[in-house]
Order: sequence, then structure tokens, then C-alpha cells
Amino acid sequence: MSDLPALDVLIPVDSPVRRLAPRSDEAELLALFADVPTSGVHVRANMVGTVDGAATGANRVSGSINGPADLRVFRVLRALADVVLVGAGTVRAERYTPLEVPAELRAAREALGRPDALELAVVTASGELPDSLLDTDRPPLVLTTGSAPSLDTLRARLGDDRVVVADGSAPGAVDPRAVVTALAGRGFVHVLAEGGPTLLAQLVDADLVDELCLTWSPQLVGGPAGRVTHLPTWFAPPRALTLAQLLHADGVLLGRWQVARLGA
Ligand SMILES: NC(=O)c1ccc[n+]([C@@H]2O[C@H](COP(=O)([O-])OP(=O)(O)OC[C@H]3O[C@@H](n4cnc5c(N)ncnc54)[C@H](OP(=O)(O)O)[C@@H]3O)[C@@H](O)[C@H]2O)c1
Repeated sequence: MSDLPALDVLIPVDSPVRRLAPRSDEAELLALFADVPTSGVHVRANMVGTVDGAATGANRVSGSINGPADLRVFRVLRALADVVLVGAGTVRAERYTPLEVPAELRAAREALGRPDALELAVVTASGELPDSLLDTDRPPLVLTTGSAPSLDTLRARLGDDRVVVADGSAPGAVDPRAVVTALAGRGFVHVLAEGGPTLLAQLVDADLVDELCLTWSPQLVGGPAGRVTHLPTWFAPPRALTLAQLLHADGVLLGRWQVARLGA
């Protein structure tokens, strides 16, 4: 049995648990998640799944499987990011609008040197993004391909500087590495990837993700929902995760894993 790992029992615990009560500035929670490398690009993913592995509930959005505990971490992770990176499928399904950092988290954000505004960056091949996102005074950065049918329309609508061509070797597909490089080139080095499963899988496959925050929602939903990563091929090799942190509230488990980078 000596080659089997020990199992750490985290919950229930037999020593006093450090309890983070909600507070408007979320100072303690911010401190927990703020310890990221001070140089280079850091890509953190944040996702939610049910205990049976579904990335959505029956209504095909994650809103039906997340909750207040997840929301606390979700807000804090956004406050710590320069940019939120998402695929267009998520923007459409989850009805993204320009991102706002809650007023009570802005002081911490400023103290950490993050920019005032939280940028939204969307990856799309089709360029089909909702008017409610494009027709605002804070449109997203759009990362697309040189062959996107709506490239000229997007440029005319958003301005050349908000439309980034990030082609890779696969025709008609954005290259995840070119995305992260383009964001870093604009000074967005704290990248928060909020999915969806298709984009996240490509980021992982391209060895670009440093950290995964994953909330397990205490539900079984069955159904045809996909998982938090979606790729037609297996990750080769599978990416090893190291558990860095585990929070708990009312049966919701909020994990934070460091992702082993192949190139490291
Ligand atoms: N559980 C969670 O934490 C979580 C998080 C986010 C989303 N979701 C759920 O996931 C579902 C959406 O899943 P999804 O996998 O379709 O989401 P997604 O990855 O956000 O979107 C896929 C779309 O993103 C664009 N895209 C992705 N990679 C690309 C590439 N390399 N090149 C060009 N375009 C690329 C394409 O957009 P175009 O079609 O415009 O070309 C593609 O159709 C929704 O039901 C949403 O609610 C769950």
C-alpha cells in the first residue's frame, strides 16, 4: 500500500476552521486569492460544475448551478483581474454586458495596481456577438480570425484597435496563444478565463492556464450537459493539478488548483 497517496480529510476538520465572514470589502478573501506571481502573465480560470460534472443546469446556463458562496469568489476574482477572457458561446448564453467591479472592491483593486476598468475580451470566429454588448460605450476587445465574415463590420463598429486578429495554424480558428500574447501586449497580464468549456479546453491544451478555480455545486443534474472543459481530443498528457486551497460553505466546495505547466 506504500505507493498509494495519503488522503487528507479537509471536511470535517478536527481543528478550528478559519471562517471568512462576508464583508463588503472582502479584504480577507481578496488576500487569499491575491497571491499570484508578480511578473509575467498569469491565467486563472474560474468555473462551476455540479457534483455529477455538469457545466450547466437544465436551462443550459451556469446561473442555475451557482449560488451565493460562488458569487463571493466570482466577484473577488474579477476584482483581481485586468481582463476577463471568454468565448463567444458564453457571451451569448450568459448574456454578458460590460463588466463592472463593485465599488466596495475598487480600493483593493487600485492598491494592487489593477486598471480602473475591468476589460472584457471575447474570442469568436463568427463575430456574432449581441448588440447589447457591442452597442455600448465600453465594447469588448474582440479576438477573431482574419477570415471572420464580420471582420470589416466589427472594425467599423468597434474601431480597429478593439478588433484583434489572432490567427493560428488551424484555418478559421483563433490561436489561444496569440490571444494571451495580444492581451499581455496591451498590459493585461492578470487574465481571468471564465470559459466556456470550449475555449477553456483550448487554453489548457495550449499549456496557457496557471490556475483553475472550480466550484462544486452540491447538485446532481443528469442530462446532456457538458463538462467544464470540452475538446474532441484528450489532453496529452493529462494535466496534473495541485490543490492550493479549498473553501466550503453550506455544502458548496470551492477549490483552487495550480495547473502543472508542461513548459515549466
Ligand atoms: N460552468 C461554468 O463555469 C461555465 C462557464 C462558462 C460557460 N458555461 C456554459 O457553457 C456553455 C457554452 O459553452 P461553449 O463551450 O460553447 O462556450 P465558449 O467556449 O464560451 O464558446 C464557444 C465559442 O467561442 C468561440 N471560440 C472558442 N474557441 C475559439 C477559437 N479557437 N477560435 C475562434 N472562436 C473560438 C466560438 O465562437 P463563434 O461561434 O462566435 O465563432 C465558439 O463557438 C453555455 O451553456 C454556458 O452557460 C459554463
